Amino acid sequence: MQIPQDLIETATLKLKSVKSEAEFFQLRSQFLGKKSFVISAFSELKTLDINLKVSIAKDLNALKADLTKVFEEAYQTLNTNNQQNQLDVFLPEDPYDLGSEHPITKISNKVIEYFSGLNYQIFSGNEIETDFYNFEALNFPENHPARQMHDTFYLSSHSSTSSDFLLRTHTSNTQIHSMLKEDMPLYMLSPGRVYRCDSDNTHLPMFTQIEGLAVDEDISFGDLKGVIVDFLENFFNEKMEVRFRPSYFPFTEPSAEVDIKFGNKGWLEILGCGMVHPNVLRGCNINIKKFRGFAFGIGIERLAMLYYGVNDIREFYSSNFDFLNQFKP
Ligand code: PHE
Repeated sequence: MQIPQDLIETATLKLKSVKSEAEFFQLRSQFLGKKSFVISAFSELKTLDINLKVSIAKDLNALKADLTKVFEEAYQTLNTNNQQNQLDVFLPEDPYDLGSEHPITKISNKVIEYFSGLNYQIFSGNEIETDFYNFEALNFPENHPARQMHDTFYLSSHSSTSSDFLLRTHTSNTQIHSMLKEDMPLYMLSPGRVYRCDSDNTHLPMFTQIEGLAVDEDISFGDLKGVIVDFLENFFNEKMEVRFRPSYFPFTEPSAEVDIKFGNKGWLEILGCGMVHPNVLRGCNINIKKFRGFAFGIGIERLAMLYYGVNDIREFYSSNFDFLNQFKP
């Protein structure tokens, strides 16, 4: 019986091109299976002369052991390769572009962060509102001329042409909702969209405000001033020239508009504020002998324009990637 000399070499070579477990076992049975040369040679040993039998059996056993080892090693390599090809949860993720937070969201969050630090609770409000919450409870009686400052979008109902609902013109509706719902004292902040029938390079029909309201015992205009100035200096991270300019809102008395001095641009209006009008507190069943409040409404687009140096408010909603990509983290 002739033992082929190149069995190990051939097996090693063929194993190199094996890609799957199935291919591996097919090859293994070719070299070490029942019909393989090595295994079938063992059964032929009995026909041999005793001396030859011993020496050939020795060679065959050695060959079988070597082949087995070659296959075992190849199997291990195959397994590690396969594992490496599988999903590795520890690999860093692909840099997949998910866009960025909208600049208005960023600015809102910056405001929220400041007031959360003062323990103001965040209150969500509704954009579709009734006349009561948007105007009447805020001390704008029907036909009051101050309603003219708000170019309101009215929603007509199916059943009649009269308007039961409108798109809120300011976030001040949340003052009423929160005072009717919560116990005093109350410190709340409410960000959201508001709507006015108005559009040019400094006005949009939809924009964002953040309402703030504090109702407590012994609240004064001094508290309001302190909070607003500190907020603005924190926001812009510098000492600011801030001006409280007397103004009029039906739901605050006294009322002011706050301007900040901005380089060569001069004074820029940034928010409206005031002490909550007693009529508003009373309407929300609040004991005006005990409690007072202040409120403010910040225009977020205006703040964002100043913060980022944007000249046209419409840029924020133009969905222009060149513009938006500038605000990536
Ligand atoms: N709601 C007012 C506006 O939109 C701003 C404001 C809020 C004024 C709270 C006073 C107090 O113009």
